[in-house]
Amino acid sequence: MKLATTINYMNQEMEQIESLMHEIVNAEEQTISETSSYLLDAGGKRIRPIFVLLAAQFGAGKNDRILNVAVTLEMIHMASLVHDDVIDNADTRRGQATVNYKWDNSTAMYTGDYLFARTIELLNGPNEVALHQVLSNTIYQVCIGEISQIRDKYDLNQRKIEYFKRIRRKTALLISTSTQLGAIAAETSDQTVKHLKRYGYYIGMSYQIIDDILDFTSDEKTLGKPVGSDLRSGNLTLPTILALEEDETIKDKVSSFFENPDETEVNLTQLIEDIKHSKAIEASFQCSQSYLRKALKELEYLPDIRAKRSLQKIAAYLGKRKF
Ligand code: IPE
Ligand code: IPE
Ligand code: MG
Ligand code: MG
Repeated sequence: MKLATTINYMNQEMEQIESLMHEIVNAEEQTISETSSYLLDAGGKRIRPIFVLLAAQFGAGKNDRILNVAVTLEMIHMASLVHDDVIDNADTRRGQATVNYKWDNSTAMYTGDYLFARTIELLNGPNEVALHQVLSNTIYQVCIGEISQIRDKYDLNQRKIEYFKRIRRKTALLISTSTQLGAIAAETSDQTVKHLKRYGYYIGMSYQIIDDILDFTSDEKTLGKPVGSDLRSGNLTLPTILALEEDETIKDKVSSFFENPDETEVNLTQLIEDIKHSKAIEASFQCSQSYLRKALKELEYLPDIRAKRSLQKIAAYLGKRKF
């Protein structure tokens, strides 16, 4: 099953979102225009705007405010990715060179800042204070999530709880904000907002766990970004944390790799293989599945409309995703 076929009845809105984003990234400054359009043209799954539109179906359905919220969420996501690629020193994203690689770090940082600023400008009506409060808190939490990831790098003694706290902030909140604000912008009931927000949160947790599994099990061509990069950059994600708990020899290997990262390229490849074939991958997958089940449970409280069926199908699709 493809994501696009599940939601093809929203093609028109998705196209409107694309053109709105192109309008917004057009800056007076040529470099910023170039970097932002370059990023936009590379595509991406657009999962956050899709969630905004689907959540909105439980209320007013569609209007300009909802489209603006959808654009806002994708642009905040894009901004956080440009910054993330600087932090992770990543060369490839969405199948092409990153902005930090093709241009440089400073250009990437300002591109991200520019995208954040344009987004805030987009929802500038007098009645949008509530939306702004949610958005500013989310951006703030994403920053803390990313900073704590830097802080916890190379720390072999960190516990699972630290990982879950990090991914909640850096990923799950932005997805729960997508469903929450889609519902608020469409003026659904408080109860509906609550369940959609929780659905987004559980989906988001599962989404990052799968991303972290794919970093071990996928390949660069499918993923559009390098694999093995989490361990290479000292970032301990769920598969590694579980593998360390389960197998002392893996722990020793990770420890010696962290002490001598430059000398042991061959060892790193072997280490990634060891983790890939350990029980930790299946255990991480089960963990992501349990979040997906929680997400589906939230939908039981909502009326049986087409958007609900799409949200169910997307949860199933995300559980099996390969990129
Ligand atoms: C990548 O997000 C970063 C994570 C939160 C895992 P996506 O996997 O949604 O990236 P794009 O937008 O499809 O490129
Ligand atoms: C997600 O983290 C990035 C943000 C939430 C900003 P990752 O570092 O795992 O994302 P990828 O793997 O680079 O896409
Ligand atoms: Mg990254
Ligand atoms: Mg990743």
